Amino acid sequence: MSDIATRYLGLTLKSPLVASASPLCESVPNIRELEDAGMGAVVLPSLFEEQLELESNALDDDLWRGAESYPESQSLLPDLEDYNLGPDGYLDLIEGAKAAVDIPVIASLNGVSPGGWAEYARLMEEAGADAIELNIYSISTEPSVGAAEVEKGYVDFVRQIKRTTRIPVAVKLSPFFSAPANIALRLDDAGADGLVLFNRFYQPDFDVESLEVVPRLTLSHPDELLLRLHWTAILSDHVEADLAVTGGVHSAVDVVKAIMAGASVTMVASVLLQKGIHHACSILSDLRRWLEEHEYDSVRQMCGSMSRRSVPDPSAFERGNYMRVLSSHALKPSS
Ligand SMILES: Cc1cc2nc3c(=O)[nH]c(=O)nc-3n(C[C@H](O)[C@H](O)[C@H](O)COP(=O)(O)O)c2cc1C
Repeated sequence: MSDIATRYLGLTLKSPLVASASPLCESVPNIRELEDAGMGAVVLPSLFEEQLELESNALDDDLWRGAESYPESQSLLPDLEDYNLGPDGYLDLIEGAKAAVDIPVIASLNGVSPGGWAEYARLMEEAGADAIELNIYSISTEPSVGAAEVEKGYVDFVRQIKRTTRIPVAVKLSPFFSAPANIALRLDDAGADGLVLFNRFYQPDFDVESLEVVPRLTLSHPDELLLRLHWTAILSDHVEADLAVTGGVHSAVDVVKAIMAGASVTMVASVLLQKGIHHACSILSDLRRWLEEHEYDSVRQMCGSMSRRSVPDPSAFERGNYMRVLSSHALKPSS
């Protein structure tokens, strides 16, 4: 039987399928079910910078003056203290999960900037987390702030988290950079042990009747995988950090493609939210069957076999191919 074990962030995982941060990983019984379904690791839902800032500010009398000064911004945020169990409940979840399962438990911090709140990474480590996924979910809406400044903030942030904790740190990234390969390399140099490609941004919709901006959370479609494959194939030849693909992984063939591009693991949320945790068993049995039918002894054997450097025509990932693809589209003769 083909070996589907892999290595990610210095950890040995029994399979390359990881449960991505989502409400599915918010309770110990679910995490146990995810392990039973064959997941290689779980990423807990994120704890947010705003929650941790709020907790540390709560010790400060100035909070109340501050909160009164910004009632609108406060009301935009969900009930922060209890969101994702709140900071204390989160540490309990890490401890409970570690006691209940043998697979690695990755805690997730979601923020945009270095700060005292990031010390929380150390508490996550003390609670038993095997690694930290740092989700830098930044939406740069301030026109006076340029790309160089934003990117420096990312790099400083990763350096700070690396100084704070001894466990491995993966960085979940946005695809929206002018030079994605360059920022990936700089985060790699800053000590990121893994890069998770890519964040999905939840884009608000317009209700044109009520003239309101309405939140809209849609689950992913397998087409979203292509952007991830493209950048994994490019980056895997340049960075030391392990690569994880998240976004659009819905089937065993999606897992195969991501690993061939150079990913160590693939993460899933939408497909399990749609079909249930047990669906991971079918993805993994399809994966084993696929490997056997194609005579691979292990997933490691195919890792990176379709990276940019490995394929016969690397221009497939470049601008020239864009023109080729556009010109290949034949117009249907008009009737
Ligand atoms: C309901 C829901 C909640 C999520 N919560 C988080 C979160 O707390 N932190 C995070 O980094 N990503 C979060 N994500 C993003 C997922 O971890 C994942 O990266 C994304 O959904 C793409 O993977 P998919 O195509 O398998 O859904 C969430 C996604 C969904 C659908």
